[in-house]
Amino acid sequence: MPTPHISAQPGDFADTVLLPGDPLRAAYIAEHHLQNAVCVTKVRNMFGFTGEYLGQRVSVMGSGMGIPSCSIYASELIDHYGVKRVIRVGTCGAVQEDLALGDLILAQGACTDSGVNRQRFGGQDYAAIASWPLLKAVADTAESQGVALRVGNIYSSDLFYGVDDTLIPRLTRMGILGIEMEAAGLYGLAAERKAEALTVLTVSDHLLRHEAMSADQRQLGLDRMIALTLQALL
Ligand code: HPA
Repeated sequence: MPTPHISAQPGDFADTVLLPGDPLRAAYIAEHHLQNAVCVTKVRNMFGFTGEYLGQRVSVMGSGMGIPSCSIYASELIDHYGVKRVIRVGTCGAVQEDLALGDLILAQGACTDSGVNRQRFGGQDYAAIASWPLLKAVADTAESQGVALRVGNIYSSDLFYGVDDTLIPRLTRMGILGIEMEAAGLYGLAAERKAEALTVLTVSDHLLRHEAMSADQRQLGLDRMIALTLQALL
């Protein structure tokens, strides 16, 4: 049965769903990285596809931007479509000097200014962490392929514009690798549902050096990240 935000039928999604923020990225991934992909939902143009990667069923769906949007889709996928693994594939702004544009980050944990996990956790601080088996699979695959990868803590911000001037220096000091807008919520909701979650990120901008990737660099970064993630799932 369709849900309020997904028009697919039971069984239309694979156990594992990749979640890029942009629904057109989901279409690109389905077309260029999966075989036999079919579109299974397009409510609000938030396209979702199911196909195969080397014979293994995999889905990909846009999550939108920010914890509220991502949480709606991930919750419905897990609760109504039986999805077991949700893997955000996105971009982040780096906040450490030793990171460069195009670097890959695995979000082992995600801090946040969002209140969603406190709502879930009786007002206390919940340590939002990635699924160890998923994290290990991607890290091991990267190592075996000689792909450089940073594993560590990130920050999921509710604000894209107008963040407090003190935020970035604080994140740098606390060893945070990058800022994005979804992982902490995704980790919290997956834990609550006994599902597995991971966030794989490409550094698209550098917030200390004020650098940003070109459109071509973004495309290349996306392809590398998706190829690595899909290989790790085999
Ligand atoms: N802030 C939040 N999300 C982001 C950023 C950023 O600077 N860069 C890429 N995603």
